[in-house]
Amino acid sequence: MSHSNTLLVIEDDPGLQKQLKWSLDQYDIVLASNRTEAIAALRRFTPSVVTLDLGLPPDPTNASEGIATLKEILALAPHTKIIVVTGNDDRSNAIEAVALGAYDFYQKPIDPDTLNLIISRAFHLEALEQDYRTLQQQQTFSTGLIATSPQMLTVMRMVERIAPTHSTVLLLGESGTGKEVLAKTIHRQSQRNQQPFVAVNCAAIPETLLESELFGYEKGAFTGAVVQTKGKIEYAQGGTFFLDEIGDLPFALQAKLLRFIQERVIERLGGRKEIPVDVRIICATHCNLQNLIAQNLFRSDLYYRLSEITLEIPPLRDREGDILAIGNALLQRYCKEHNCKEKRFSREAAHAIENYAWPGNIRELENKLKRAVILSDNTLITTEDLEISDQLDNSMPLNLKAVRDAAEVTAIKRALHFTDCNITEASRLLGITRPTLYSLLEKHGIQDMIRNHLAQE
Ligand SMILES: Nc1ncnc2c1ncn2[C@@H]1O[C@H](COP(=O)(O)OP(=O)(O)OP(=O)(O)O)[C@@H](O)[C@H]1O
Ligand SMILES: [Mg+2]
Repeated sequence: MSHSNTLLVIEDDPGLQKQLKWSLDQYDIVLASNRTEAIAALRRFTPSVVTLDLGLPPDPTNASEGIATLKEILALAPHTKIIVVTGNDDRSNAIEAVALGAYDFYQKPIDPDTLNLIISRAFHLEALEQDYRTLQQQQTFSTGLIATSPQMLTVMRMVERIAPTHSTVLLLGESGTGKEVLAKTIHRQSQRNQQPFVAVNCAAIPETLLESELFGYEKGAFTGAVVQTKGKIEYAQGGTFFLDEIGDLPFALQAKLLRFIQERVIERLGGRKEIPVDVRIICATHCNLQNLIAQNLFRSDLYYRLSEITLEIPPLRDREGDILAIGNALLQRYCKEHNCKEKRFSREAAHAIENYAWPGNIRELENKLKRAVILSDNTLITTEDLEISDQLDNSMPLNLKAVRDAAEVTAIKRALHFTDCNITEASRLLGITRPTLYSLLEKHGIQDMIRNHLAQE
């Protein structure tokens, strides 16, 4: 994980500013001489560590402006490590600052070595805490499913709630999004987890065989039925029955499945006995079932039975932070499996992975990483090893760029509303320079907003 090296120094005395800048040159130093500048710099550079002189203008003999700055920083960026710097005789304010959440305090006159030590410890601690926060957010389930994004954590909270129930679950998601692992996760978290999990893929079995595969047959039911054979549904007795690619279930069989769901009994082909089966049913499809219903290819009564609870699994590209979390975990797994030294992504590769649209979702990520691990001799996996640089150009810009542009416009408009179209204030709020804001206004064609505003005045 990469950590920032940015140190914000809030100090109004130009002489001290110079001295600090010189003695702390191993950090990327940003200077601010008052509260307004400090908050602007905080928004713009998101420093991990801040040194804050408590005596700030307008009245450097009074610590109130310093304390107010401290509170504002902690409210905006609570993880920031703030080291307050106080005058020699100002111990009580220093203690108050620490009580309010400052990381440490330091009394003038400044001794560069000591201050350096405190700052480097603060950076170290912040890096550890940041790693810990990331790890804490990341969850790996017993089925190997990894989730860190808010989108997937929401899905996983749903899973936690529905797993212990008997409800039929319909999983919807693009191909490779993890429908099957999610079905297994639901099974593992249910009270049925000691009983079988049986999966049938409707798309993988020829229509003529699917019925006997699902329901089984008696001896002599058809030519070749030499022994009595149980169906997959019966094999799942007491456990979970996972019917994958339900959109491919032939129309004729849909009625039979519906009957099973309603009555919870099956009849083997050629048999007359009704056999009660207690299974939890989970279905999955990448198809749009509503469209199939509209085309009379899927029974709506079956759909309503199956979709007691519907879980939509977001595509990988919509899961913030998941792509690299899953990518890194898989990379380590494959390196172990191939007995090769640990590898990691080059910076460009990590960037490309995050920006690629992953139409085949996690399955595609798996394939690309397996290939890269086998073919690359280096510790660093490059963009070329992953073969995604080309697709990047024709698959991504339309989507992600549009998303980013829209987000940018929203944030800019909000900042302008907030500041009554004051460009200086708005650029501070956004953490960018005025020229940058002007060029963004032009880029997005929203200069009119300001003109109209001025015209109204
Ligand atoms: N969140 C995840 N973390 C780690 N691995 C995952 C995750 N989701 C899916 N996978 C892996 O990705 C692969 C595809 O998952 P799965 O087969 O469950 O997807 P699917 O939606 O059923 O795909 P398909 O439409 O291709 O059948 C599997 O090898 C699975 O283990
Ligand atoms: Mg599947």
